[in-house]
Amino acid sequence: MEKNPNRYTITAALPYTNGPVHIGHLAGVYVPADIYARYQRLQNKDVAFICGSDEHGVPITIKAKKEGITPQQVVDKYHGIIKNSFEEFGISFDNYSRTSAEIHHKTASDFFKKLYDDGKFTEEVTEQLYDEEANQFLADRYITGTCPKCGNEEAYGDQCEKCGSSLNATDLINPKSAISGNVPVLKETKHWFLPLNEYEDFLKQWILVDHKKDWKTNVYGQCKSWIDDGLRPRAVTRDLDWGIPVPVEGADGKVLYVWFDAPIGYISSTKEWAAREGKNWEDYWKNENTKMLHFIGKDNIVFHCIIFPSMLKAEGSYILPENVPANEFLNLEGNKISTSKNWAVWLHEYLEDFPNQQDVLRYTLTANAPETKDNDFTWADFQTRNNSELVAIFGNFINRVVVLTDKYYGGVVPEPSTFSEIDKQTLNELKAYPSVIASSLERYRFREAQAEMMNLARLGNKYLADEEPWKTFKTDEERTKTVMYVALQIASALAVLSEPFLPFTSDKLKNMLNVSLSPSPSLRTGSVDGSIKWNDVSSKSELIKPGHKINKAELLFSKIEDEQVRAQLDKLEKTKMDNSTTNQETSVEEVAAITPQKETIQFDDFVKLDMRVGTILEAEKMPKADKLLVLKVDTGIDLRTIVSGIAQSFNAEEIIGKKVTVLVNLAPRKLRGVESQGMILMTEDADGKLVFMNPDTSGVENGATIN
Ligand code: MF3
Ligand code: ZN
Repeated sequence: MEKNPNRYTITAALPYTNGPVHIGHLAGVYVPADIYARYQRLQNKDVAFICGSDEHGVPITIKAKKEGITPQQVVDKYHGIIKNSFEEFGISFDNYSRTSAEIHHKTASDFFKKLYDDGKFTEEVTEQLYDEEANQFLADRYITGTCPKCGNEEAYGDQCEKCGSSLNATDLINPKSAISGNVPVLKETKHWFLPLNEYEDFLKQWILVDHKKDWKTNVYGQCKSWIDDGLRPRAVTRDLDWGIPVPVEGADGKVLYVWFDAPIGYISSTKEWAAREGKNWEDYWKNENTKMLHFIGKDNIVFHCIIFPSMLKAEGSYILPENVPANEFLNLEGNKISTSKNWAVWLHEYLEDFPNQQDVLRYTLTANAPETKDNDFTWADFQTRNNSELVAIFGNFINRVVVLTDKYYGGVVPEPSTFSEIDKQTLNELKAYPSVIASSLERYRFREAQAEMMNLARLGNKYLADEEPWKTFKTDEERTKTVMYVALQIASALAVLSEPFLPFTSDKLKNMLNVSLSPSPSLRTGSVDGSIKWNDVSSKSELIKPGHKINKAELLFSKIEDEQVRAQLDKLEKTKMDNSTTNQETSVEEVAAITPQKETIQFDDFVKLDMRVGTILEAEKMPKADKLLVLKVDTGIDLRTIVSGIAQSFNAEEIIGKKVTVLVNLAPRKLRGVESQGMILMTEDADGKLVFMNPDTSGVENGATIN
């Protein structure tokens, strides 16, 4: 069971400053974290909502290389963009720091030093991958290769993004240097390791027993599989020149592993905030009456559930997170969001293209939040959510209430007379909403919570449509007053309950209803004196009193036009085109993907290859092998069996009848007991899908030679 104290430390994953923030980050981490933080503040909880830029690590140095600037220039640039765009988007961090800050260097250094002095690390000389051409050790994202767990060929040296496994660079099959594309060699070097194996019992009890019931199944499942696999010591230092120097003797040229320093960034950011606000940071990190939560994406689970808690445990004086509500991934128009392929909706660009429409994006992202599975963002859905939900339901209801109150009563809340059954029922339903929404929020079900909030707007809309005050106005003055009074109560409730989800709208609505003067839309509005609180909605008999004067109507939402959607789709279309043109600038990742030219051969060597045009006549899957197809190929000279590793790119059926190029004089080889008599020549397209080398072969007969 989760505890329910008064103090909350809410962290949101520190974004890497190697690019701007996109909708995938927002939907996965920042929007839900912000909803949660705002909600707890409205509950009068003492909240520290903490974030900052993650400025170390290999992705930053790769980006710097690619752009021909220093890592510091990279982080300065993106830290600025990210910080500003979060602020403008209304993510209400109490503090947004950065890991290049001095306070962080000191905090992380001291943390390491304490563990070092307490003998919590093991020291080991091991063989690490080394790029002889670049003269450097290759750690983490400097290495790509095949994931030993799932076969993904683009796994990184620290992690496979496909299956989520956390890896050591030396685990990768066919490792390649991301700097030169070379095959690395092994070279000895000394590092410090956190022996995660020694924390197995603690983790088993803490996660698999204590939190079995309250952690999300995706999070629990990943943790369980890591623990079941057996934990191994993990290096917490690296041979790199960008990062926090290892603060011990004999560690020249070594820095803290980015995943060691970054989560400590939550602590340093809290310290920075506490110093500024006159608070005690230790209350937020070392007090059992504090509930700590980490909002992250699924690729961060191991670091927040296994490694960081083990670090905190090793240190000894810290509390552990109560929950780690990780989300899955958001796709964009059916494709995986990718920073390097520019397949994304960038927050800073959205803010330019849709000024003052932060809430529309927040709403759409929450409505499609990838809470239990990956989900898709489409511009068409964005438009529909806005036009038929925000404009047609929420906006329409509020507009009617405020405009009619102004028109009928000069903006003064009327005195109700007797309530009808419908009125009583409506007011009762209204009172149930805070706890219904809260119960979803407390279980990190943000889509459900937001849908309930919209149901309240629907309730208001329906109430007005059924009671038709614009009709009774001419016939029944008392009835009209009562109906408008009830509608105004619903509008006031919405002003509060919408705040976590739609803070800008809530703010405008509060101003319209004149129920509170909030400092600034992006800041927390719940803690302003005299404003309506979350629980007032159920406990107070009325939220807005007769005689209270409201302000004039403002537009809450405006229609999103087809042209706006088209413009966004065109932008994406252009990205696709840019990505497919060949003479584009090649990025570091792409350079790595191009295999360097092999050593020179003589013409005599070449003519030894006997390559022929052939046709695939039969194909079937090799039993119990994911990659292999067994083919019957007509080579023009004979009919032969060839075993080909193409099953992940093609179904057996779709390739029957295909013209292909066959190397026919390759020495036969047995694969899974089947003799393969040759090889089909293939290449790979940009997405890594295999493609047959079958130049336009119309009119070419099987057996024709290639030379
Ligand atoms: N920068 C990491 C990422 O974007 C997240 C770091 S979270 C922290 O995936 F805990 F290390 F701070
Ligand atoms: Zn994998």
